[in-house]
Amino acid sequence: MWGWPNVRSKPGAFFYVLLLGLAGFVYNYNSNSNLLTILNQSEETELPVIYVITPTYRRLVQLAELTQLAQTLSQVPSVHWIVVEDSEELSSGVTHLLQRFDAIPHTHLHGRMPELFRGNASSTPYTSRPRGASNRNRALHWIRENVQSGVVYFADDDNTYDLRLFHEMRHTKKVSMWPVGLIGIYGVSSPVVDPDTGHVKEFFDGWVGDRTYAVDMASFAINVQLLHQNPDAMMPYRAGYQEDFFLKSLNLTLEDIEPRANNCTQILVWHTQNANYKSVPSFALKSRFERTNVQQLRSQTLNLLPVA
Ligand code: UGA
Ligand code: MN
Repeated sequence: MWGWPNVRSKPGAFFYVLLLGLAGFVYNYNSNSNLLTILNQSEETELPVIYVITPTYRRLVQLAELTQLAQTLSQVPSVHWIVVEDSEELSSGVTHLLQRFDAIPHTHLHGRMPELFRGNASSTPYTSRPRGASNRNRALHWIRENVQSGVVYFADDDNTYDLRLFHEMRHTKKVSMWPVGLIGIYGVSSPVVDPDTGHVKEFFDGWVGDRTYAVDMASFAINVQLLHQNPDAMMPYRAGYQEDFFLKSLNLTLEDIEPRANNCTQILVWHTQNANYKSVPSFALKSRFERTNVQQLRSQTLNLLPVA
C-alpha cells in the first residue's frame, strides 16, 4: 500500500521539499495569471468618459458651490468637467478654482445669455430666465467639435450629487434616467417605471403641465452619439422647458429610456437649492402609481425631516 514517505528518511525529506517547491510554483503561476486576467479586463472594460456640463454664473455662493462640486468630481474616475460661465469672458475666480483642482480633466468656456433673454434685472423674475441655456449650448457645441464617444450629464453647480450616480450613468446606451430629490411640491421627481414591462411609462413631477418629459436637468444622461445623430438638438431659451425641448430634439421614445438607480427607487441627486420645505412634502398615491417605484419614493420623502 502507498503511504506518505517518512520525513526523517533521506528520500522522504527530498519528496517533501519537492512537494513544497511544486506548491510554490503553482501558487505563483496562479497569482501571475490572475494579475494578467485583471490587466486584460481593465483594458477591455475601459470606462467611457462622462462629460459633465456645468453652467455657472457670478453670485455670492458661486465659488463655494463649485468647490463642493469639484470635490465630488475629484472622486469620479474617467470624467471630463466642462465648466461654462454665463459671462463675456472667463472669470479669474473660476479659473483659479479649476487650477486648484487640475487633477480633474476639464474645459473652461463661457457663453453669455443673450440680452434678449436676460431681461431687465428689476422687472424680469429670475425664474423667467432660461437659466444656463446659453452656456449649455456652448458646451454641446464643444462636445460636437471635440468628442466622438462617451456620456453627457448636465450637472448644475447648486445640486448635491451622490458618487454612486456617476456609476449609474456610466454605461448609458441612449438616455438613462433616475429620480431627483428635494424638488417640487412632492419633494421628488421621477420617471415612473411600469412594473410589468420595466419601461418608463410616464413622469411623476410636481409640474407635469404640457411637457412630454417632465424631468429635471439632473435626472438624465445621454450618450454622445445622440448629439451627433441629432445635430440640431439644443437647449431652448425658454425657462422651465429646457429639459423637455432638449430631450424631444433627440428624437427618443419612452422605450429608449434606461431606468437607473435600482429601477428609479433610489435618490442619488438632490435639488438642494429648493430644499426650503416647512413641512414634510406628502402626497396621496394615485392608484396608477401603486406597485410602481413611486410608491417606494413616497415612503422615502416622508422620512425627509429629522424626528423632533
Ligand atoms: C431649474 C433647473 O434645475 C435648471 O437646470 C433649469 O435650467 C431651469 O429650471 C430652467 O428650466 O430654466 P433652477 O434650479 O431654479 O432651475 O436654476 P438655477 O440652479 O438657478 O440655474 C441652473 C444652472 O444655470 C445653474 O448651474 C446656474 O449656475 C446656471 N445659471 C443660472 C446661469 O448660468 N446663468 C444665470 O443667469 C442663472
Ligand atoms: Mn438649481
